[in-house]
Amino acid sequence: MDYMKLKLAIQKSGRLHDDSIKLLKECGIDISNGANKLRTEATNFPLEVFFLRDDDIPQYVEDGVADIGFVGENVVYEKNKKIEIVDKLGYGRCRLSIAIGRGQKYESVQYLQNRKIATSYPLLVKEFLKKNNINAEIHEISGSVEIAPGIGLADAICDIVSSGSTLFMNGLKEVETVMKSQAILIRNPALKEDELKILHKLLFRIQSVKKAKNNKYVLLNAPNDKLDAIVKILPGMKSPTILPLAESGWSSVHSVISENDFWNVIESLKANGAQGILIVPIEKMII
Ligand code: PRP
Ligand code: ZN
Repeated sequence: MDYMKLKLAIQKSGRLHDDSIKLLKECGIDISNGANKLRTEATNFPLEVFFLRDDDIPQYVEDGVADIGFVGENVVYEKNKKIEIVDKLGYGRCRLSIAIGRGQKYESVQYLQNRKIATSYPLLVKEFLKKNNINAEIHEISGSVEIAPGIGLADAICDIVSSGSTLFMNGLKEVETVMKSQAILIRNPALKEDELKILHKLLFRIQSVKKAKNNKYVLLNAPNDKLDAIVKILPGMKSPTILPLAESGWSSVHSVISENDFWNVIESLKANGAQGILIVPIEKMII
């Protein structure tokens, strides 16, 4: 009997490829990732993985060739296909930006008035120009956008910037951010019940991995008369765990803190008498 498998599309190569595979691994899903493979199957989860050009993923998901996809928000908004966004994936953070030659003087978005902009994101650039009342010519190209100003094809480009090294190597500087982006999970709107079941199983794992990354486990010692103040600083998943130390009058406190206000929390713990503070990464967080 052939069991139902969910078909996932991920980027074949490029910025999101490695982190997409890594996320599957962190979800405990083993796939063999041989070079030049077009598709593969997970050995321990009902998942079939297709390796595709990121720009094509929304179309494949709309058509149902793939049931779900891991793809950049930037591509999803540009392609504007009939798909549903399920969740943000927390990796592949970047921005879609306008860049011009490093030697050019830039004062405001007016610089772009009547200029020529090369991009693979014509729709998003058009919206940006409209919002800013700029009239400019959009020159659509599908790759190597960053070389366009150097060869006289355009005055500016609009492309994805993550580390900034592509712009740097091509003598360009970033002048406007059109949108911020990260990898997201998209799905075909018409999944069947069995497919949805697998999707929810996968989503549960992804969310546990994401939560764990955003949180740290903290252990500390404190004199008992300081416990009230310390517990107030540490919300924990329910409430902190308090265990007596061998030395009387002292306790050990365990809790979970969020990465967002991490340093503030540590500082106020110290200021309130906490000692021997240990911070430990969490592998999975099931709630
Ligand atoms: C983007 C963009 C640049 C690169 C920028 O490509 O086109 O080539 O990333 O990254 P950097 O600032 O770290 O140098 P992307 O991976 O989105 O894929 P693409 O080839 O489909 O455009
Ligand atoms: Zn692409």
